[in-house]
Amino acid sequence: MAFKTAIWPRRLRSQAWYGGTSRDNIYHRGWMRNQGLPADLFDGRPVIGICNTWSELTPCNAHLRDLAERVKRGVYEAGGLPVEFPVFSVAESSLRPTAMLYRNLAAMDVEEALRAQPVDGVVLMVGCDKTTPALLMGACSVDIPSIVVSGGPMLNGWFRGERVGSGTALWQMSEDVKAGKLTQDDFLEAEQAMSRSPGSCNTMGTASSMASMAEALGMALSGNAAIPAVDSRRRVMAHLTGRRIVEMVKDDLKPSDILTRAAFENAIRVNGAIGGSTNAVVHLLAIAGRVGVELTLDDWDRLGRDIPTIVNLMPSGKYLMEEFFYAGGLPVVIKHLCETGLVQKDTLTVSGQTVWDEVKDARNWNEDVILPVERALTPQGGIAVLRGNLAPKGAVLKPSAASPHLLKHRGRAVVFEDIDDYKAKINDEALDIDETCVMVLKNCGPRGYPGMSEVGNMGLPPKVLRKGITDMVRVSDARMSGTAYGTVVLHTAPEAAVGGPLAIVRDGDMIELDVEARCLHLDLPEEEIARRLAEWTCPITPPRGGYAQLFHEHVQGADTGVDFDFLRGCRGKEVPRDSH
Ligand code: FES
Repeated sequence: MAFKTAIWPRRLRSQAWYGGTSRDNIYHRGWMRNQGLPADLFDGRPVIGICNTWSELTPCNAHLRDLAERVKRGVYEAGGLPVEFPVFSVAESSLRPTAMLYRNLAAMDVEEALRAQPVDGVVLMVGCDKTTPALLMGACSVDIPSIVVSGGPMLNGWFRGERVGSGTALWQMSEDVKAGKLTQDDFLEAEQAMSRSPGSCNTMGTASSMASMAEALGMALSGNAAIPAVDSRRRVMAHLTGRRIVEMVKDDLKPSDILTRAAFENAIRVNGAIGGSTNAVVHLLAIAGRVGVELTLDDWDRLGRDIPTIVNLMPSGKYLMEEFFYAGGLPVVIKHLCETGLVQKDTLTVSGQTVWDEVKDARNWNEDVILPVERALTPQGGIAVLRGNLAPKGAVLKPSAASPHLLKHRGRAVVFEDIDDYKAKINDEALDIDETCVMVLKNCGPRGYPGMSEVGNMGLPPKVLRKGITDMVRVSDARMSGTAYGTVVLHTAPEAAVGGPLAIVRDGDMIELDVEARCLHLDLPEEEIARRLAEWTCPITPPRGGYAQLFHEHVQGADTGVDFDFLRGCRGKEVPRDSH
């Protein structure tokens, strides 16, 4: 059969591999045909990569092979050639020492795979927390047409007539066992009830927050964030996404066209309105760094201050993602923010339409799930960025998940030098601590842990829990799960392991938190702080060899997104030379 090319209006990138009759073209195309692909599929039509984070070791993404088949249907229908490929899958629930250590590794995998392979556009198949930012970061650094489709959240968890939210219930029940309110057997029985179906965490944790961020940034079709994983409409979303990416290639609609500064400002505001995860801070800063948008921690504070949290979901509220979807999902929230002037209506989305075009017809079907502003969970729902002599480069706190009476607090520091020190001491009845103290955890930041683990919401000591106390002020350079809650100061920068002031806090020092004033203060004379800093020596042994060494040597601070210094920016899609 004679080989024909150029059915597409212009020659696409993939044709450098497939479009011709040279020996190399035959090599590239012929080997692909061992999969039973007819020659005319290489006739110049868009080759669409389906970049899949499917893995049975990433349970939140374990259903993505099925969803990829739906994407393929859409791609074929629209006249493209779909090719699915795997990338490193970052499992929040099982990777050690922490999934965050591997976000940048996955982003590198995605970037290099997209550049090296003959794809004209890509569908980013994501779900569990880090998979969304990792794939977006990698795609942004290549800047070919890209679109996100999420796996969707699990169905509601139910246990003995009560909703049990992913993560949130785990933290709560664990504390209840320590306080003697729940037996270990009850806790074990609740285990299966928490995870009833395929999908990602059903709370407004990091997975749901990042799916919402992808939608708010304009990088996913409207409505993508909330559809449950097992709802047939999730498959429809995947199918439509497959159709759409082919059109995006036709229009050459790239991440750099969509991810403007205005798009990031919109996403920050949406994160406040949904009561989204503090992890969105580091991820959006990192994505912005890839597309060259100047975004800072101060933007988070400024843009979030006047945003009411109106989505009544755990961990800030009461419901779960299933109910959010039934109530109308994220389009309702974005529509509300557009109408009140808090979200810019004219930013572009992957649909080729503006944000406003996508949401203007949305309706709120349940005002107990998506609340009217007058009944907002908290009037200032954004992420509060704290500064002071304990966090010169900033720290974050999520007011909607904190206890109002602790937002202004002065307390005696009880210091844990690292996570092992915390685990060794926290259950000791002799530990000198009560509910007025401030728990301080060091060396859990990007370099210290390594990877910046989600341990900032340290469980309280049993003797405090037994009094019925459920929250204390906690300060660390760690992150916290998006499903967690409490008056928890996170991402303190510079981190202790690089000699930030957190490193020199000692038992008995007084710490002042004033969220309204955005202040985190170590009440010591400046000379004493300077003296201790001069005496400080790093307790961390740098890792030798392998990825851990690369991470240690190149990771940047929480205040700029924990990306590698050499990965910031867009390096484009050009390959230096062909394979022979
Ligand atoms: Fe995967 Fe929460 S652990 S989404």
